Amino acid sequence: MATFVEEDYAIDQPLVTSSGLRQGLTSYGDAHFSLFLRKVFIKALGYSEDALSRPIIGIINTYSSFNPCHANVPQLIEAAKRGVQLSGGLAIDFPTISIHESFSYPTSMFLRNLMSMDTEEMIKAQPVDACIMIGGCDKTVPAQIMGGLSANKPILPLVTGPMMPGSHKGKRIGACTDCRNNWASFRAGTLDVEDIASLNEELAPTAGTCGVMGTASTMACITAALGLMPLRGASAPAVSSTRLRIAEETGTNAVAAAGVKRTPQSILTKESFYNAITVLQAIGGSTNAVVHLMAIVNRHPDLCGSGDITLQTFDDIGRKVPLLIDLKPSGDNYMTDFHNAGGMLALLHTLRPLLHLSAMTISGATLGEVLDKTPFRTFPYSQEIIRPLTNPLYPASSLVVLRGNLAPGGAILKASASKDRRLLCHTGPAVVFKNSTDLALRIDDPNLNVTKDSVLVLQAIGPIGNPGMPEAGMIPLPRKLAAAGVTDMLRVSDGRMSGTAGGTIVLHVAPEAAIPTSVLGIVKDGDIITSDAGKRVLSVSLTREEIEKRLSERALDGEKTAWADCQNKRGYVGLYQRSVNQAEEGADFDFLTAAGPKMGLKEGSRACVFQEQQSAKNKNQPEMC
Ligand code: FES
Repeated sequence: MATFVEEDYAIDQPLVTSSGLRQGLTSYGDAHFSLFLRKVFIKALGYSEDALSRPIIGIINTYSSFNPCHANVPQLIEAAKRGVQLSGGLAIDFPTISIHESFSYPTSMFLRNLMSMDTEEMIKAQPVDACIMIGGCDKTVPAQIMGGLSANKPILPLVTGPMMPGSHKGKRIGACTDCRNNWASFRAGTLDVEDIASLNEELAPTAGTCGVMGTASTMACITAALGLMPLRGASAPAVSSTRLRIAEETGTNAVAAAGVKRTPQSILTKESFYNAITVLQAIGGSTNAVVHLMAIVNRHPDLCGSGDITLQTFDDIGRKVPLLIDLKPSGDNYMTDFHNAGGMLALLHTLRPLLHLSAMTISGATLGEVLDKTPFRTFPYSQEIIRPLTNPLYPASSLVVLRGNLAPGGAILKASASKDRRLLCHTGPAVVFKNSTDLALRIDDPNLNVTKDSVLVLQAIGPIGNPGMPEAGMIPLPRKLAAAGVTDMLRVSDGRMSGTAGGTIVLHVAPEAAIPTSVLGIVKDGDIITSDAGKRVLSVSLTREEIEKRLSERALDGEKTAWADCQNKRGYVGLYQRSVNQAEEGADFDFLTAAGPKMGLKEGSRACVFQEQQSAKNKNQPEMC
């Protein structure tokens, strides 16, 4: 005689459908039948009624053979399942898309919003009481938090962890700061082909995410600072047994969070984000994290549009927070060193006076309570990797927000990663590249009119202009200058750069060049550009009249901007270009933000500007009858 749950067959009683297998039933107009059918199919996998009566913990499987940063996902799933099942839950894993930086055309950022939609909808669609989200590579963690926050079931990020460093000729190396530095040396002719080929074998020697303070590590630290995962979860190496124990602990935490329905919208407050931004500044984190954090903020109904957290918040907090972590690209070391020096626990104890300790965490304890329960003594840890507040690596404002007539919507500069600090306050003539293709064609032209004092400007790599806003903002130095020993120049674009990259590089200029009113879009060779990190200025020495003149010429000469071009495009790329907002808002789709799509034509919006451009054009057309 089969065991059964009487309530499931009590067809004259309403079915309680708020949790477990009974939630989110497929709609057939008969809830009992929907449940009956669901059980028919899941029993094909061998589950018992006892198993199916437990809290169901989903585990998002982002394993892909194209994603070496996620190579340990199968082991993490096994360990997380152990934690769930030891705590009385039922763990069920399911896939979502997986994104790796080097296997995402045109760029991984192009797919971040798609992955967030996949994550949100699969969490909502399937009967999970909580969901462990295994991610790691740069865009995966923000995509999962964005989607999970919108789905608003208890979510528990579990990152894959950083890779170990490799070795070349007795020197430690690691993806991806050393990929870029060594490639620059190869381009400059100071590294031969044998060396660069042999480096290629050692730069990513194990599974895991890039082993420096790039975007993946930054997002891992930020996720811990937001209170969504155990503190040591940010830095334990991908190939360590600690990483597996963190996975098991995450399984245990998931069952507890499911029991009290501890949702991300209830945990995350503006104080959580202030803590995350404080950590971002203290670790000299990736500029990409600014975009991701704004996208996450704008998924939260209480924060989206509240003005509590804007681009300016990053700068305001940064002024009070020193750079404490000596990791590449701002410093010299690797994530394993950070982990061995105490990781996030040591960092948060150091930052304690600057943190909002009342912020809640997924464990149900406040951040202050978590820190109280886990005292940290610096001895015997090195204070070289995690510096005390009294001996920082950089005094404050690792990341600064610049504004001016060239970037009314703001731009980001990672001042701490500048290789030539004199360039932090620099004025020079622009050498303008219209887009990435133009850059590739001319940057190494021996006849290019460029000096070390020029400002390299790259247009049209913003969210709309080059969907996905590629990490092309670290414009390579012209080979003739690199060969002459130049190691840094001021560079300006509306794109992004890898979190592992360094240099004096102004990014995320808003509004981007593709937007008809963008000043970046009308800069020409020889225009004088000033970037002053101290004064937070990014400007071009053009009068208001000259700017207006160039903008109207641009509108009237019929230039086909990406914005005009995308209106009738099919597929995801068309959806992307028509819906993506600017970097300062998170480069999310407007319809995915908590506020939803902007209704009507808001003054200054892309749609409004486009319509104005069209009517300006029409005024100059002969009257049609
Ligand atoms: Fe995946 Fe760097 S390529 S984290």
